[in-house]
Amino acid sequence: MAAPLIIGNWKMNGVSADLAEASALVALLKQISHRARIALCPPATLIERMARLLAGTEVMVGAGDAHAEPSGAFTGDVSAEMLADAGAQLVIVGHSERRATHRETDAMVGAKAVAVLRAGLEPIICIGETFAQREAGRALDVVRGQIATSVPAQLKDADEMSARVAIAYEPVWAIGTGLLPTIAQIEEAHGVIRKALVNRLGEGGRQVNILYGGSVTPENAADILHAADVGGALVGRASLKASDFMRIIEAA
Ligand code: PGA
Repeated sequence: MAAPLIIGNWKMNGVSADLAEASALVALLKQISHRARIALCPPATLIERMARLLAGTEVMVGAGDAHAEPSGAFTGDVSAEMLADAGAQLVIVGHSERRATHRETDAMVGAKAVAVLRAGLEPIICIGETFAQREAGRALDVVRGQIATSVPAQLKDADEMSARVAIAYEPVWAIGTGLLPTIAQIEEAHGVIRKALVNRLGEGGRQVNILYGGSVTPENAADILHAADVGGALVGRASLKASDFMRIIEAA
């Protein structure tokens, strides 16, 4: 089994002063034993400084989004190549907040995942159903469809995929709401994702980290992280404070 991957998604939160939380996290991690790979994804403005700050530590730096093109006339956007140049090692793509507020489709998310791989970085591909879709009994079909389109088709080699791609299952209704699926619901969705990955990649599909995201806290992290087919967590609010994030890492 790959080591669990625990990612802090700072979203549009954080200015220079908050870099102290990243330093505090490194100090706190020295006091615990854990087995996770760890990353913080601050806003783009902090990536380069955070990467310098965390160089030589166990904490990687990532980004919350990337444009699919390497460069060009896309005012205000940032490419995966630019993020790599700034020191990022991974990039979240297809977060539901971007799917909702920037109208990103599965095909766009797939193109972004390709772009992230092209830049030599690791895409964290987010999928997950809305509350209405779950209520309509369509949650698992939605997840299957998102896997089919958001995961780059050219990734057929299991070793390459498992080493360089992670999936984050984030039910939209659980993000930032304090609402949590049951462990059985998480295991059901992760099982469907695992099956889709194994169908695509053969046995190597079992090595891909499937993260759970949505209202993960220090209190619920252990139950979630030890559920079947859960290979880590994508953590929003609880990643903003180093002491909370450390407790989630410790639970993995
Ligand atoms: P949350 O966010 O932990 O604040 O619910 C998770 C996410 O959006 O990745």
